[in-house]
Amino acid sequence: METDSLPIYLLFAIFASSSILEASINGGGLRSKQENPIKRSDFPPGFLFGAATSAYQVEGAYLEDGKSLSNWDVFCHSNGNGCGENGENGDFADDHYHLFKKDIELMHSLGLKSYRFSISWSRILPRGRFGEVNPSGIMFYNEIIDDLVLKGIEPFVTIHHQDFPQELERKYGSWLDTQMQEDFVLFAETCFKSFGDRVKYWVTINEPNLVSEMSYEKGTYPPAHCSQPFGNCLAGNSDVEPLRAMHNMLLAHGKAAKLYHERFQPKQGGSIGLVAHCFMYEPLTDSDFDRKAAERAMTFNIGWSFDPPIFGDYPQEMRECHGSELPRFSPEEKNLMKNSIDFIGINHYSAIYAKDCTNSSCLNGCDRAIKAFVEITGERDGQLIGEPTSMPRFFVVPRGMEEIVNYVKTRYSNLPMFITENGYSSPNVQDVEVDEILNDIKRIEFHETYLESLAKAIRNGADVRGYFIWSLMDNYEWTYGYNVRFGLYYVDYKTFERVPKLSARWYQDFVKNNSLDHHPPLRTDT
Ligand code: BGC
Repeated sequence: METDSLPIYLLFAIFASSSILEASINGGGLRSKQENPIKRSDFPPGFLFGAATSAYQVEGAYLEDGKSLSNWDVFCHSNGNGCGENGENGDFADDHYHLFKKDIELMHSLGLKSYRFSISWSRILPRGRFGEVNPSGIMFYNEIIDDLVLKGIEPFVTIHHQDFPQELERKYGSWLDTQMQEDFVLFAETCFKSFGDRVKYWVTINEPNLVSEMSYEKGTYPPAHCSQPFGNCLAGNSDVEPLRAMHNMLLAHGKAAKLYHERFQPKQGGSIGLVAHCFMYEPLTDSDFDRKAAERAMTFNIGWSFDPPIFGDYPQEMRECHGSELPRFSPEEKNLMKNSIDFIGINHYSAIYAKDCTNSSCLNGCDRAIKAFVEITGERDGQLIGEPTSMPRFFVVPRGMEEIVNYVKTRYSNLPMFITENGYSSPNVQDVEVDEILNDIKRIEFHETYLESLAKAIRNGADVRGYFIWSLMDNYEWTYGYNVRFGLYYVDYKTFERVPKLSARWYQDFVKNNSLDHHPPLRTDT
């Protein structure tokens, strides 16, 4: 084989693995990456290439330096609600709380331009509005931010990524109550005041649409609310509560964004956005019903999340479907919400088929109104939409990236966008060897093909400003625990050692747009 012109990470892979050529799956899957791979120069100058994590998933130190218990700490410590197949939790996670300096070194050695991370609410305001700001919490994030800035890495901060002080759940039921809006605004204000001189990119809330679904429809995330037939929970109403929780999250976003725009942005000069979980829905069949079902699914997910902060209200189709169950924005609230984001954050992993459930019965139980009477499936005529991953609803469908970006571009008149998460975790195999995990050719192919698809959308005019790989390192994947590994770095959970996977080498090569020979060696923490 002619190897002279191959990048080093591929040479390494060829010797480590005999098969880098993968069969194409249903026209949209993996393929050989030797010819003409995507390059940094296919993206605009100044485009932010980075990696993402979130506080509960990486920090650990769950009771240190004045931090209170969060909803996830409590959820994962109570019996029988299945935090991870093996009852795992984020008590230690990646021990990023103690190792953050080394982790920033890793990012620096990769040449990352930005790091997206979230703030643990219970570290900063352990009792929410009912107590004081915790100076140790502020100090921790100040150190992270200072170190990032020193290394030329742009901090991209998510204020809230799922975890909040349990006291707010206990006192008034967190996102089901309007009081949570006030608490969130105080939390956001504390962040703007403490970090806004150095943070130029803020995300108010990560994936309110997914949290509403998992916490209040399916009941698999805290506070584990749901009703039949969605699941067996002790409390909840799967038809109404997800809509209420989402409404409070959207208003919390709107109020915090107003505060930022009026009081902080003029001095600090940053921007603020909202991030949603964005599947691309494709019709299962050519029928008109399924085509409309796919359109509805897009509206009831993307429109549900971004219509209010851009247009000031929910999509009309949702109002028609949910009637009075869908909360209403008052005229003042509509004003507050409208144009409350400077950019749209897209977390995109997969495309999936949508099947109509209004006119036919759905085999696997239809998600009823909250999901627009659509059943989703990854399979059509016995063929998967793309290669499966460790996540049941995530398939490798690179074309979905271009499609989702085009959809968002059209719906919202090309408001600036960031791909705030995109990543791959290989299907779970028992007793897999570490070497095999490190030799993650499939992750490289995933990112190359998704980036190609993204570059196409950008070439066609989409205003996308950055791309963050989920995740910098393996971490606590919520109820899936530690077996699902999304990282560019492998984490040994016994020693907390970080070991670069092949994909870390690839990303370094890609971001620096050069041959690996010229780069400093990748750091590990040993
Ligand atoms: C979330 C992350 C999660 C990732 C992979 C996103 O929905 O923001 O917290 O780890 O997907 O499942």
